[in-house]
Amino acid sequence: MNTKKINSLFVPTYKRDGAPLTHGKGSLLFDAGGTAYLDFGCGIAVNSLGHGHPALQKALFAQGRKLIHSSNLYFSQPQIDLAKLLIKHSFGKRVFFCNSGTEANEAAIKFARKWAKKQSPGKYHILSFSDGFHGRTYGALSATAQDKFHAGFEPLAGGFHFAPFNDIKAVKKLLAAHRFAAIFVEPLQGEGGVNSATAEFLTFLRKAADKHKCALVFDEIQCGMGRTGTLWAYEQYRVIPDMMTLAKPIGGGLPLGAVVCREDIALSLGAGDHGTTFGGNPVACALGVVVMNIIADKGFLKQVRVKGAYLLDKLTSLQKLFPAIESVLGSGLLIGVRMKADPAPIIAGCKKAGLLLIKANRNTVRFIPPLTVKKTEIDRAVSIFTSVLKKQPAKE
Ligand SMILES: Cc1ncc(COP(=O)(O)O)c(C=O)c1O
Repeated sequence: MNTKKINSLFVPTYKRDGAPLTHGKGSLLFDAGGTAYLDFGCGIAVNSLGHGHPALQKALFAQGRKLIHSSNLYFSQPQIDLAKLLIKHSFGKRVFFCNSGTEANEAAIKFARKWAKKQSPGKYHILSFSDGFHGRTYGALSATAQDKFHAGFEPLAGGFHFAPFNDIKAVKKLLAAHRFAAIFVEPLQGEGGVNSATAEFLTFLRKAADKHKCALVFDEIQCGMGRTGTLWAYEQYRVIPDMMTLAKPIGGGLPLGAVVCREDIALSLGAGDHGTTFGGNPVACALGVVVMNIIADKGFLKQVRVKGAYLLDKLTSLQKLFPAIESVLGSGLLIGVRMKADPAPIIAGCKKAGLLLIKANRNTVRFIPPLTVKKTEIDRAVSIFTSVLKKQPAKE
């Protein structure tokens, strides 16, 4: 089937071409046409252990043989094991499992409102920041301060307010005007263009959340779980949130999301207040246990930092050679090359040359390889990227 025919099968919410992907191994993906790609998109920051990791395959088959689904009416051992690991390795005392990042944020919005309304019924407003991304369902979408995701879907949910990212003055103004249940922020924005929160900003948000008795929620769906070289991005800021939302790599490639939270927030919820049929599925959680056990290891995290610094350095050195590059941003293995023009042709050129990269916001090329990527693969990726940049018509 050609691309046009395949696309005619689907609601056209994605722009796709090329042969279907068939299998993967480590940092490589292969398509039905026999082409191999170096996967520096990583299933949008999901395949942190690369493709076909033997420990994930083993857990997948072992749990698949035992029990694939049981619902949340009953306990399952993998869910208990993963909750214990998340609590052991974070600030959190309680966990809620769901299926995706959007659902994790949706749950966190509901938890924050239930908790804050116990203080006072009018305390339901939610604050989030420009260029943030929190998901596609109405609550998570309403917290996403990017017009392009809203267009055509209005009206959005009520009670959501936006301030410019890293703008303390603007936050102060909003906090004085509304009674907030929660502040949602990504310590390192992924979809928004690989923008880091400043330490001053997150420290201020922590103090403001304490002062106004609202929940500080860190969306670590993209930047958490080792991606920035520490298990959680918040560790690098020494700012502890009240809730943290997780998804993407946590299920080892299966749909899984989680809210990790403080005890008092958790205890403002009761049986039946929130729920999901599939969330915390035993197979996904069994893979989550493997992912956590590997990524939480200090030696593993160190090699992420070393390789991240290596990639950042190589990309930064390109800036001197190519005036089309505006800046190189990010931390660990979540790195963005901000271009002066739309980078879509560069990303398409890289794909043609066997390197998968992802666009972030209007003008940034995201490098998100598996955390297990080899140095030689980084060299190869940078070499392909360089050769594609060389072929771009000069604009400056
Ligand atoms: C920071 C962040 N939050 C939330 C989401 C939504 O997650 P999902 O696509 O699993 O619903 C994403 C997805 O890209 C994300 O990067």
